[in-house]
Amino acid sequence: MKVRHLTDAQFGSIISEIDLENLTTEQSKSIRSLWNERALLIFPEAHLSKQGQDDFALMFGELEFPRIAISNVGKSGFIHEDPDDDVVKVIRGNEGWHHDSTYMPIQALGAVFSADIVPDKGGLTGWADMRAAYEALDIGMQEKVQTLSAYHSYYYSQGRDGYLPNEQNDDGTYNAYGFHDGEACLRPLVKIHPVTKRPNLLIGRHAHNVTEMSSEESEEFMDGLNQFACAESRTYFHQWREGDAVVWDNRRLMHRVTPYDMSKPRRMWHTRIAGNPNTELAENYR
Ligand SMILES: [Fe+2]
Repeated sequence: MKVRHLTDAQFGSIISEIDLENLTTEQSKSIRSLWNERALLIFPEAHLSKQGQDDFALMFGELEFPRIAISNVGKSGFIHEDPDDDVVKVIRGNEGWHHDSTYMPIQALGAVFSADIVPDKGGLTGWADMRAAYEALDIGMQEKVQTLSAYHSYYYSQGRDGYLPNEQNDDGTYNAYGFHDGEACLRPLVKIHPVTKRPNLLIGRHAHNVTEMSSEESEEFMDGLNQFACAESRTYFHQWREGDAVVWDNRRLMHRVTPYDMSKPRRMWHTRIAGNPNTELAENYR
């Protein structure tokens, strides 16, 4: 197996000359340890099968859910492109920087993501290093964020961006994934990575109502922090080729999709790896 680190960022490695569906024990061990160190591993043209992708994800932890399509292509081949279409709203919401499932009681550990149908333009996936972002804050700001927590909610992020589903229950709730009935999840703005023990920011579009701030103050503060954290020097954007696969560490990295022409088909496969309840459970769910 050949490993090449991405040079522009402090995270990310490209791994080639490996068969992800037939890993040796030694290779599995190397990949897991590299993942904790580099947070994003890219396997060009790995062409994982459905079972192969889920099995690979299981190397890192239990699954929050097995492989699903993140796509504007419906089952019958119908292309979802109307801005008011609920499928389109979910995809457009993903254009904002976020960690996956921070709005669920247990945030995701990571995800395996692979490309099936790739548009000619746009539809790149970007990742941003929240460890480097924390380290780039001045000492005063590091001390400040260490004392703060924020609520994470999909109602908040999709609501703020105008992407709430059309289909709503009589009691105001939604049935789509992520709109859970419980209280919004409270999480510290600084997460200590359970393996490396290094601190990183845990922020993004789902985070709101920072403790000890008014809603307005909080929104302004978080917008500034998100913008600073996701500065270009701390990001990497991947231009997909069909069959490319990646695995990322959702405890440390944020990610987003770049806009693409929604009349063009794009299909990605996503397997979400469940967080560990000991280290990824929200403060108010303990
Ligand atoms: Fe996501």
